[in-house]
Amino acid sequence: MQITCGTDIIEINRIKALVEDSEEKFIKKIFTQNEINYCESKNGAKYQHYAARFAAKEAVFKAISGALGSKYDIGWKDIELVNDENGRPKINFINIKIEGLKQCDISVSHCKEYAVANVVVVF
Ligand SMILES: CC(C)(COP(=O)(O)OP(=O)(O)OC[C@H]1O[C@@H](n2cnc3c(N)ncnc32)[C@H](O)[C@@H]1OP(=O)(O)O)[C@@H](O)C(=O)NCCC(=O)NCCS
Repeated sequence: MQITCGTDIIEINRIKALVEDSEEKFIKKIFTQNEINYCESKNGAKYQHYAARFAAKEAVFKAISGALGSKYDIGWKDIELVNDENGRPKINFINIKIEGLKQCDISVSHCKEYAVANVVVVF
């Protein structure tokens, strides 16, 4: 068994600027429709939720490449963060199977300025 972790922190304003400057092309390139629906439902706080999902994708990538190196060409939308009925986040892998992956757990947090994600994977 091998356990690796990944973490990422991002400024909310950086994500806000990327979305606004790209006339939302950035959103369509990076986020799945489920993620967009969730974030857009948050109105005023939506950039915190987008930033959390961006950090989540980076943290998953770090955790997986910690175990497998750069074996996989993982796209932004291959990794999706969804919330269960209690709000707890979990990762869906879309159109990609990570060989040997047994478990992937994630925790995210965000405030006005930053979003952070921590991921642990078990192979
Ligand atoms: C769920 C809770 C922990 C979120 O904490 P918060 O400080 O309000 O907000 P944070 O920015 O740190 O975290 C938000 C993220 O928590 C995650 N989250 C929500 N519910 C969760 C749950 N039940 N379990 C794990 N993570 C959860 C989500 O990913 C959310 O981000 P998202 O909506 O963008 O996906 C908090 O609202 C809560 O209900 N706390 C319960 C009371 C408590 O803390 N008791 C402590 C004594 S044990």
